[in-house]
Amino acid sequence: MDLDSLKQIILDIESRATSDFDSVNTKSDLDDAYRSFLGKKGEVNILLKSLGSLPQEKRKEAGKILNQLKSTLESGYAQKTISISAQEKQDKLNQQKIDVTLDGFEDLKGSVHPVTQTIKDICDFFERMGFDIESGPEAEIDYYNFEALNVPADHPAKDMHDTFYLNNKGLLRTHTSPVQIRTMEKAKAPHRIICPGKVYRKDSDLTHTPMFHQIEGLVVEEGASFSQLKGLLNDFLEDFFGEAVELRFRPSYFPFTEPSAEADIRWKKNWLEVLGCGMVHPNVLKGVGVDTKKYSGFAFGLGVERMAMLKYDIPDLRAFFDNDIRFLNQF
Ligand code: DAH
Repeated sequence: MDLDSLKQIILDIESRATSDFDSVNTKSDLDDAYRSFLGKKGEVNILLKSLGSLPQEKRKEAGKILNQLKSTLESGYAQKTISISAQEKQDKLNQQKIDVTLDGFEDLKGSVHPVTQTIKDICDFFERMGFDIESGPEAEIDYYNFEALNVPADHPAKDMHDTFYLNNKGLLRTHTSPVQIRTMEKAKAPHRIICPGKVYRKDSDLTHTPMFHQIEGLVVEEGASFSQLKGLLNDFLEDFFGEAVELRFRPSYFPFTEPSAEADIRWKKNWLEVLGCGMVHPNVLKGVGVDTKKYSGFAFGLGVERMAMLKYDIPDLRAFFDNDIRFLNQF
């Protein structure tokens, strides 16, 4: 090879590289083109190696023009890199263009669940009456759910409860009444407590769900009486419904109260049962060490969903648990 033919080759490489760099549109195609000319095994390197075949005195000049070629290609590559990345940026911007005429997203607002609201309303009233709010575990043991409430092992009243039993001899509490026992064990009388919470029974149809909410009330004081119980419940129901209600006590039976009653209110001409109540059975008080000569007690238990259904005129109990936003947003 002589110097002239080398110059010819260089011109040829330069023109092909320039047109290759021109024609590519992506960074990876550009890099491929770059490698084929300036990479380790690229044309320029191969040419560099062949300089050995030139006579000694021509090598210096040949090296110079080859280096010129290299820097021309490098700068062509650098320019194209800049223009590709500018184009990519522009493409991205075009894609992300915001159409301000599109519909917006609706901002969904949460609302308080009617069961939660009902529990709050009821607890608020009793707190004003000097009651403390207590709670107990939902996974209970037989002792608190039954035995300490005067329901011995073979008592037929246990059958009324359709209990969910757990593997470890525990059970899911069937009512909030065990919180009465836990409270009286924990502190000395007098007591004025209200206990909202979830309870569980093997029951499921239009008017029963396997989990529902109850609120338990307990008063243990000197001179606590049946007439106080009725007066208190009357005040409570008036406060809850926001108007005078007709209240009726019907004799009933609960193992943990004596006497026991079920309370009905007149609702659209019919009598509807709203809660169970009574004077705390002396066996229950004695079992937790309350001095029954000094103290007497009354208690009541009401179903939260039942109260909410009446107040908000909701016909189907299951609506509380479907969590349909359209239903919940009405509250
Ligand atoms: N625990 C009863 C039930 O679930 C309701 C009840 C009745 C609670 C009378 C009481 C009560 O505290 O005195 O059916």
